Amino acid sequence: MKDSKIITNPILKFWLNTISFGGLVFLFVCYYYFFQGDNFSLQLINKATASTAIILMGLSFALSGLGYYWDFADRKVPYRKYLGLVGYFFVLWHGLNSLYYYFLANTGLEKFILHKDWIVFNFTIDNRIPFILGAASLVIFTLMALISNNYATKKLGGVRWRKLLRVGYIALLFALVHFTVKNLEIWINWFKGGANTLPQMSSLLALYIALILLLRIALQISLARKPKPKIPVEKTKSTMPEITSRIASNKKVKKRKIK
Ligand code: HEM
Repeated sequence: MKDSKIITNPILKFWLNTISFGGLVFLFVCYYYFFQGDNFSLQLINKATASTAIILMGLSFALSGLGYYWDFADRKVPYRKYLGLVGYFFVLWHGLNSLYYYFLANTGLEKFILHKDWIVFNFTIDNRIPFILGAASLVIFTLMALISNNYATKKLGGVRWRKLLRVGYIALLFALVHFTVKNLEIWINWFKGGANTLPQMSSLLALYIALILLLRIALQISLARKPKPKIPVEKTKSTMPEITSRIASNKKVKKRKIK
């Protein structure tokens, strides 16, 4: 078995593992919506693609922080790129499908009507706001997907490339507001009703995004407190940007101190 193609080709292994994982997450999410009473329909699939995207892309963002604080996550750090790209496939699906529902299919569903008003804490929010934020988030994720290859990394240089990828956190924030506006009232009613059913998938995703953003802030603070290792940017691997080497080098410092 040792000379099987999958073992000898690590890239293929990363892709296969990530696609299988993405597929399982998608099935689980579909089941969750179904279990909560949604009909098995194209609308359910549309929501499930959005949720799967957030879970996968969120994990891709979180892996740097997880790898820094917990050794067990170190081995998974190379999966960031693949999780991001498979997640992007799902979000592209959701974005295009939603655009179709907005402008071509006459679904009559209020979430796909541009001029619907949402009430969020006594404020009236026009549906164009979550629409624009969703679209902006999709544009940013598209740019991130486009520069996720080795060619772009080399062209842009490690530092600029890493800075550009951080814009992804803004996209994540846009996505958070995008679906919170549409769902906040449902979350509040669920809570007021005694919270005796499973929570809305979207409320769990909001919590998940909040944790990812907090982890990033914590990582940023930890990295800022430590002296930067003197590793020339050109020498870092293109698929493992500078941050990985800084994390690795900070870990060595930590371990030496413990010894
Ligand atoms: C052109 C871009 C986009 C459009 C037109 C759009 C549209 C929509 C619409 C209409 C809904 C409500 C669906 C329903 O309840 O049936 C929705 C929900 C959602 N969207 Fe988007 N979206 C876009 C981009 C994004 C992006 C980039 C993300 C995340 C990265 C995202 C994440 C979500 C999530 C998590 C939900 C909530 C699903 C749920 O209620 O369980 N969307 N979107």
